[in-house]
Amino acid sequence: MFISISGKKKVRDVDIKKLIQKMTLEEKCYLLSGKDFWQTRSVERLGLPNVTLADGPHGVRKQEGASDQLGLNGSLPATCYPTAATIANSWDPKLGEEIGEHLGVEAASQDVCVLLGPGMNIKRSPLCGRNFEYFSEDPYLTGKMAAGYIRGIQSKGVGACPKHFAANSQELRRMASDSVMDERTLREIYLTGFEIAVKEAAPRSIMTSYNRINGVYANENEHLLQEILRDDWGFDGFAVSDWGASNDHTAGVAAGSHLEMPTTGGDSDEELIQAVRSGRISEALVDRRVEELLTAVLPLREAVDQVKGKEYDREAHHRMAQKAAEQSIVLLKNDHRILPLAKQTKVAVIGDFAKTPRYQGAGSSVVNPTKLDSTLDVIKDFPLELAGFAPGYHRTGPADPALEREAAELAKKADVVLLYIGLDEISESEGLDRSNMKLPESQIRLLQMVSDANPHVVAVLSGGSAIEMPWIGQCEAVIHGYLSGQAGAAAMLGAITGKVNPSGKLNETYPLTYEDVPSAPYFPSRERNAEYREGLYVGYRYYETVGKPVRFPFGYGLSYTTFTYSDLTVNEKEASFTLANTGERDGAEVTQLYVCAKCSGVYRPAKELKGFQKVFLKAGESKRVTIPLDDKAFRYFNGKTDRFEVEGGEYEILIGASCADIRLSATVTAAGTEAPLPRDASRLPSYQSGNILAVSDQEFQALLGHDIPDGYWSGELDINDAICQLYYAKRWIGRLVYKVLTGLLEKSMAKGKPDLNIMFIYNMPFRGIGKMAGGMCSQYMVEGMVKAVNGHFFKGLGQIISGFFRQRKVMKKANGMK
Ligand code: BGC
Repeated sequence: MFISISGKKKVRDVDIKKLIQKMTLEEKCYLLSGKDFWQTRSVERLGLPNVTLADGPHGVRKQEGASDQLGLNGSLPATCYPTAATIANSWDPKLGEEIGEHLGVEAASQDVCVLLGPGMNIKRSPLCGRNFEYFSEDPYLTGKMAAGYIRGIQSKGVGACPKHFAANSQELRRMASDSVMDERTLREIYLTGFEIAVKEAAPRSIMTSYNRINGVYANENEHLLQEILRDDWGFDGFAVSDWGASNDHTAGVAAGSHLEMPTTGGDSDEELIQAVRSGRISEALVDRRVEELLTAVLPLREAVDQVKGKEYDREAHHRMAQKAAEQSIVLLKNDHRILPLAKQTKVAVIGDFAKTPRYQGAGSSVVNPTKLDSTLDVIKDFPLELAGFAPGYHRTGPADPALEREAAELAKKADVVLLYIGLDEISESEGLDRSNMKLPESQIRLLQMVSDANPHVVAVLSGGSAIEMPWIGQCEAVIHGYLSGQAGAAAMLGAITGKVNPSGKLNETYPLTYEDVPSAPYFPSRERNAEYREGLYVGYRYYETVGKPVRFPFGYGLSYTTFTYSDLTVNEKEASFTLANTGERDGAEVTQLYVCAKCSGVYRPAKELKGFQKVFLKAGESKRVTIPLDDKAFRYFNGKTDRFEVEGGEYEILIGASCADIRLSATVTAAGTEAPLPRDASRLPSYQSGNILAVSDQEFQALLGHDIPDGYWSGELDINDAICQLYYAKRWIGRLVYKVLTGLLEKSMAKGKPDLNIMFIYNMPFRGIGKMAGGMCSQYMVEGMVKAVNGHFFKGLGQIISGFFRQRKVMKKANGMK
């Protein structure tokens, strides 16, 4: 294929196939792993340039000093936009696209050719530590939002990299766990979002996740990377491993992975060269991967070369971050229409978050913001009278009675209390799942004290994932900003004072208690396996099917105006209805289309989101809204035919303001694909009814179509066992390492600030030591370590020592590769 790339001097046309013919085996193999933590390799002799990849989903995290994938070391300043969970509440892919454009401009300006986002894993459990980085519990909303971001980023010549592909919905032992699920659940819930993103926005790259899927690592999963991604969806970008997610590099390249990151100092590269020499993998296949990689990467290099170093308007980008936050605010409760506050209302601002905002989560997505607004900084720009500020609680640790008393005294002096509360930093972090869905106890106590002093409490929430709200009765209003980025404070005050009419709707269900969550009995994984026994019944798919009451349903959110829905007409291609703004304010409504299958040959959740549209209407205005019924509307995945099929028959089309607030419905008949039905329904009673909280081994086995893989640790450790499993080590040295690490971790947790580094090591498999040490340790040395802890101490030690000298030579060669 011919492609134009920029060499050092001028843009020229290159025949990639011919270029590959000129490369040595070494050069080709070295191209398929990183040069360092963030860059790919170049081949200077042939004028092939390298590119830089950088996090992350809601802002650019380009590191120029020490590198890490946990957000521990500094990065260049960049605009911190609201996180994906926040923007998903806007239900507006166009807004995602606009943010994407801004991200693209900033990335290109910093010479970043691939931006590592958006994050699109499904919120299987509200406890997953990275939910703030993901869009939704629903794959359709996820896919549409992600497609928006990708289109935007790529419109600026930068490649997007949706992640983490796939089924990576827990942080605990994330690099060592196996997501065990049936194929239908995989396709319908965990892959559909990626499918939409790939088909509608053609990302230039995709990131393979750390975990295994049904026994095979994502990065070496041919079913995922070749059969589904390339052959079925037509993906023509490159697949990069998550940092350290490569297990067996050769198997990865064979399966469809193109780039192992970060560098292993030549270890993986040499492994691949030997694999070609020994015939384990053919050189032709390596050539193909190199061609696919270069075809995707070189145009990015060329585009970014045109604009790198170009300044962008930081103020304008800050304003974009504010606009994005404004359009994503969710109004959850508004008794007596206390909001918006009347002009010059005397407010007491209480809560530490008003001074030091919670605006993003922890880990690899951490952005070093260009500036950061706090409520106390910007409140003077709004028509409110400030009675005073009281912090009310400490960020972590127990309640402080003195702070509580001070807050209660202040509350008495105001008409209304703006109480800034939410999840603290420890609750939302890469590498660490939450242990419960509660707000910190100190904040709940404070709310009680403050509402006793003044009943007009408006709770202003921050936090990127669902929480329990047993305390909601003590608030007159609750307004949620999620994690709203560097300009979120003004966005929120805009909504509180009515300059902004809230139009966000929840991207996820807020259950009454954690025990109600469908994955709760199975999350996080027992030992090695994460068993996805709840199958399709994630989030509202479960609550709506079994009629379980929730605090706030998926798609819920109030407005300062009211909307009515009328005159639905439906055919097999689309649904149309009239939406009217019947209130006194201009506002936007997120209209939602759910499909309910009446034909019952295959089990299905009661409602599934298959379309949506955000519509802005002036007060008194009405509009005809049309939502297409696309190829996803009626389909289900059929394990017998191994493809999506449509069951012919009747479907109810439900139009609503949330999944539980259906305003209009009509029936449509869909033509089927006449495929044989997949399974014997009588063997899957829980899945037929949706009562999936106690799926027996026998039934899960029937769903999987094979035995449940044994996920228990035996005592013999291997390179893919997590380091925290040193608990099982046969040698005292292994158990000592376990004890020391556990002690350090517990100490940092007790301080309220988990040490992400220790956490990462704790959950990392042994092979990760080799993959993440920048070449200081090879896989051969790792195997030596595992031998040593398994009771063959001297044999293992010998291997570590000889491996060390061998790796020194490999690194020397790697450093010489240009
Ligand atoms: C994260 C990715 C991130 C990568 C590079 C990994 O730990 O899972 O999301 O892009 O590090 O920082």
